[in-house]
Amino acid sequence: MKYKRVKGTRDILPQEWILREVVIDVVRTTAYSFGYGEITTPILEEAGLFIHSVGDASDIVTKEMYTLVDKAGRDLVLIPEGTAGICRAYIESKMTVWPKPVKLFYFQRLFRYEKPQKGRYREFSQFGVECFGSQSPTADAEIISLAHTMLKKLHFSSLTLHINTLGCDACRKEYREALVRYFLSFESTLCEDCQNRLKTNPLRILDCKNPSCKQCVADAPKIHPYLCDVCKEHFQGVLGCLDVLKIPYFVDYELVRGLDYYTQTVFEFISQDLGAQGTVLGGGRYDGLIEKELDGPPTPAIGFAMGLERITMLLETKRTELPLRTIDPMLYIANFGGNTATLSLQIAQDLRQNNMNVLVDLEGKGMKKVFETAEKRNAKYLLVIGEEEEKTGIVSIRNLTTRENKELEISAIPSFFLKGDQNEV
Ligand code: HAM
Repeated sequence: MKYKRVKGTRDILPQEWILREVVIDVVRTTAYSFGYGEITTPILEEAGLFIHSVGDASDIVTKEMYTLVDKAGRDLVLIPEGTAGICRAYIESKMTVWPKPVKLFYFQRLFRYEKPQKGRYREFSQFGVECFGSQSPTADAEIISLAHTMLKKLHFSSLTLHINTLGCDACRKEYREALVRYFLSFESTLCEDCQNRLKTNPLRILDCKNPSCKQCVADAPKIHPYLCDVCKEHFQGVLGCLDVLKIPYFVDYELVRGLDYYTQTVFEFISQDLGAQGTVLGGGRYDGLIEKELDGPPTPAIGFAMGLERITMLLETKRTELPLRTIDPMLYIANFGGNTATLSLQIAQDLRQNNMNVLVDLEGKGMKKVFETAEKRNAKYLLVIGEEEEKTGIVSIRNLTTRENKELEISAIPSFFLKGDQNEV
């Protein structure tokens, strides 16, 4: 084979699309029911947008961005995440003057130069939501409730909600210092990345998957004693609201998330069935991003994104519980000689206009092959049209399950299928 897929990318084949279609339908409908509107932003953005929002010390910016220079010399990236582009659009498209909160959802293809493994790709897709303009803990609880509702509709009740707070800039400053003091005494046991993180962003050490770093993390100081009263109250407010909504959660003191823009609440829904890449959905509050990094007006904000590949992978085992589209043909039409091929397309056209799945033999296969193909393609009915049928206008439709035949006029085929008459055969 001359050309292959680029490492870390995937081809999404029809059977997977049938599952993905259900996911897209459920999450879109759920987002609308929470008052969100759909937005699409470009896959290409300026590199600076991510350096300033996701963070110049984050893994995404330091190691994973697909960067390119266009013909005019602009530094661009294939976007590695959705939030920054939505925030840019929020400012640039003047959504800042819309009534608050402004609630947006999106489907986006993203690119990260990560080490590919099960559930982790270099090109992947997300469904994401962003809510601008509310600082209330109710907004945090509502967005978590949106995630919970759509996951429940997709028959996931066993995903665990991990939640934490990262405090505001003020409480995080003291916490950072405490972390640096603690980790300095283990500096030589930390991995090379974490030794650097000690200087750039010590909170990220809490998230490191390296076994020796993980051991040091176990006894590291937790943020909660360092929280200011406002952040403490905010977090208690979110948890209280989740209790009322009966959304179970686990307060995970080590949850920090990999993007630098977060403040206060962060959360993830985690599955035990995906190995190391078990986070299906992650998000949090980012109150400083729009004003401090993107020169927009002061705008509290919160959002999350869900990986479509991971959720679809988990749904594979639930195919029978879902209202999946069938792509099997209801009718397979074979034809032999004369104008029967065109006649087949004509018959199919009426049925297809009414959304019935019809497959027409375009090659004029022999009779044996026709039966084989109809069976292989899982067709329910078979119609064979030869010159005789064309002349008389009378055909025989075969039910491939019961093996019964029904004779009828060609003109009666649409009503046979579309009015449900076929149920009698
Ligand atoms: P994230 O945690 O980087 O957050 O990604 C969200 C989800 O995207 C993950 O939980 C995972 O399901 C999926 N995902 C991430 N990386 C990959 C990958 N390499 N391959 C396959 N799936 C992946 C964000 O992107 C934030 N923008 C979320 C957010 C929105 N925060 C606030 N608003």
